[in-house]
Amino acid sequence: MAVELSALDLSNEKESITKLIQVFAQITENFIDDLENRPVAQTDSRLKSESFIEAGIPFAQALERLCDQVIPQLSASRGPRYWGFVTGGATPIATFADWLVTSFDQNLSSGIDSVASQVERQAIQWLCEMFYLPPSFKGLMTTGATASNFLGALLARDFCGQQQGLNVAKDGVTSLSIEVFAATPHSSMLKTLGMCGLGQNCIVKIKTLDNSEAMCLKDLKQQLEQSNAKSKVIIASAATVTATDFDDLSAISEIAHQYEAWLHVDAAFGMFERLVNQPRLSHGIENADSITLDCHKWLNVPYDCGVFLTRHQDLLFGSLNVPAPYLNSSIENPDFMALGIENSRRFRALPVWMSLLVYGREGIAKWVESNIKLAKLFADKITKSPHYQLLHDCKLNVVLFTPKVDEMNAEQADILTCRVRDEINQDGRIFVSAGMWQGKQCIRAAFSNWQSRVEDVEIAMQCLDEVATKFGGQTL
Ligand SMILES: Cc1ncc(COP(=O)(O)O)c(C=O)c1O
Repeated sequence: MAVELSALDLSNEKESITKLIQVFAQITENFIDDLENRPVAQTDSRLKSESFIEAGIPFAQALERLCDQVIPQLSASRGPRYWGFVTGGATPIATFADWLVTSFDQNLSSGIDSVASQVERQAIQWLCEMFYLPPSFKGLMTTGATASNFLGALLARDFCGQQQGLNVAKDGVTSLSIEVFAATPHSSMLKTLGMCGLGQNCIVKIKTLDNSEAMCLKDLKQQLEQSNAKSKVIIASAATVTATDFDDLSAISEIAHQYEAWLHVDAAFGMFERLVNQPRLSHGIENADSITLDCHKWLNVPYDCGVFLTRHQDLLFGSLNVPAPYLNSSIENPDFMALGIENSRRFRALPVWMSLLVYGREGIAKWVESNIKLAKLFADKITKSPHYQLLHDCKLNVVLFTPKVDEMNAEQADILTCRVRDEINQDGRIFVSAGMWQGKQCIRAAFSNWQSRVEDVEIAMQCLDEVATKFGGQTL
């Protein structure tokens, strides 16, 4: 590191800040420059075990540890061939806006001390406009789709309480009569049903359509008809995390209306489909009571940044506002701390606000469209491969595949799929996730990084072919 660090007086911010900016800017630049050479995932990472150092160590030594022990073992998750989960990689604008978030160190709990809360409100408004959602949707930024699903579950629960004349937020869930209907909810949705006291097992499982994870409407209607619960909640998907299937939200919202059920839609990444498809696969989402959206997925802003939207902000305020002498939030002008989980909140709206300003709908749609094309190209190459087979048509940005196997029972095939998947991830050229498709282990590649290119698909195919050869050839 070119900067002289030994004389750095960290207790004097004015004096140390210029040097620190140089040091951290250099680390940032080196990391981004070297991204292509770094293994996409570090599957064997290990941090040396060590006890807490009471007196601390000089900054220069701490930096050395960071550079020796931590940075070399980080993944290239911001890069173009990290295809696990559904992650974006921060764009340059979002990266440095996020750097400013930390520099500015604002607390967006109440809006009384700065304009920052208004920036969050404006970013939410712009997101709604970009996704063609009506202005009746209000919301807030969260730490991610799980936190947004939690707010969805909580609000649905309290809506049901209101239907039954109960104040669940104050009196608890014990006398609540409620059933939740869903076909293929994301695992985070189950987690949050547990967190809000309804229980992970409260779901009435709705059948799916053939060869799809989308809800069968006939079964949904039948189950709602048979339900004795006083209140009902429907959890729909746009899109499901494995097969990227969209529930028929127009029809489901009509059914929800008919049964006076709350409709929550998990559109964590599927919402972005609205930027490129006509007609929209998520048509009808505008009738949902609440929606989950994730910006650290396809908007390509850094973690952690989700969004929760609802047409019932007053109910959210009723559930989450806790009056205190030093707070003066009102239902007409609610502070974010009265609408969300946390009291103290990060200025995570800034990277979203700047991304929307700089890239606009057109710029964002370009990378969404390109990701979808790349996923289809990759799926096509898998279909033509002698070593692998496609498990499901690629409809959006996710490709599901397994090794092609002859004469193996299902259990052996699953074991092989897991071994091949581990080998692919250890190779370091791409990173893929585990998935289950119709009871079978599969390999799942999700395209949501703004930088992914055709060359990355070619590199991936080369890696897959070499892995297949290691496992013994043509059909594995
Ligand atoms: C549909 C869906 N919902 C929820 C989540 C959870 O998102 P997060 O990790 O941001 O909490 C994911 C993550 O992949 C998802 O795809």
